[in-house]
Parts: sequence; C-alpha cells; structure tokens
Amino acid sequence: MSKPIYILNGPNLNLLGTREPEIYGRMTLADVKSMCKERAKGRGLKIFFEQSNNETQIIDWVHQAIDDADGIIINPAAFTHTSVAILDALKNVPAPIIELHISNTHQREPFRHHSYVTQAATGLILGFGINGYVMAVDAMANMLEAG
Ligand code: DQA
Repeated sequence: MSKPIYILNGPNLNLLGTREPEIYGRMTLADVKSMCKERAKGRGLKIFFEQSNNETQIIDWVHQAIDDADGIIINPAAFTHTSVAILDALKNVPAPIIELHISNTHQREPFRHHSYVTQAATGLILGFGINGYVMAVDAMANMLEAG
C-alpha cells in the first residue's frame, strides 16, 4: 500500500487569491489543493495537503512524514529564508523532497535569494506560478516510478 505525498504550505499561503495577486496569482489555496488532488489521482497517488502559519506545526508534519510519506512537496514560504528548524526536520526524511516556490525568488529581494531548505531538497521548482504545484506532483510521480 503506497503512502501519501505530503504537500506542505507555509505562512500566508492561506491568503492565496488575494495576497499580492501580481506575484502569486488569483487562485486560492483550495484551488491549488484540488488541482494537486486531481493530478495525483491521475498518477495513482494520494496526497496529504496542509497549510500552516505556525513553524511548529510544519515541523510536526515533517516528523509525521518520516514514516508516513512517499515524498514531500514543500512551499515553506517565508520560513524558507529563516528556518534552520525546518531544514533540520527535513534532513530526517528518507523520501524525496521537492522545494517549491510560486514566484522566482531569485528575481526578488536579496533576502529571498537564500533558502535553508534547499540543503535538504532533492530538487526545486520555482517561478512557474501555481502551475508549479502540478509540475511538482508530476515530478514526484516520475521520481517514484523510476524507483
Ligand atoms: C514563496 C516565496 C517566499 O519568499 C515568500 O515568503 C512566500 C511565498 C513563493 O511561493 O513564491 O511566502 O515561497
């Protein structure tokens, strides 16, 4: 029995749709969840899709993923640039990890150019807008199929 793919979202992503739409687009997090669910279903995968504004909660989900996930897709949002704790948690996950950003963080303010999480990531997807989530589900499915 295969385990779910965890899709974890950090702070302020609950505001997708109204938050800086020129950067993040007009789709809501609920839209993103249903897109991911549909694509995952098409690839024979289940998802556990969550968002929190709380760093502790994200760390707890990463800990849960150590035994419970076949992969993690994580948009840590602002915690990307600050959280050694999320990096340390991710280092315990044996499954593949995709770091995802809606925007191309390297084209933005210098403080967004560094990611702690990258050190634990198998690969990165950034700058493709909301479509990056669907790309990440496909990339994860391809990795898992390749074994
Ligand atoms: C983000 C980029 C981060 O710099 C920012 O803090 C976010 C969203 C993105 O998806 O583009 O909240 O992770």
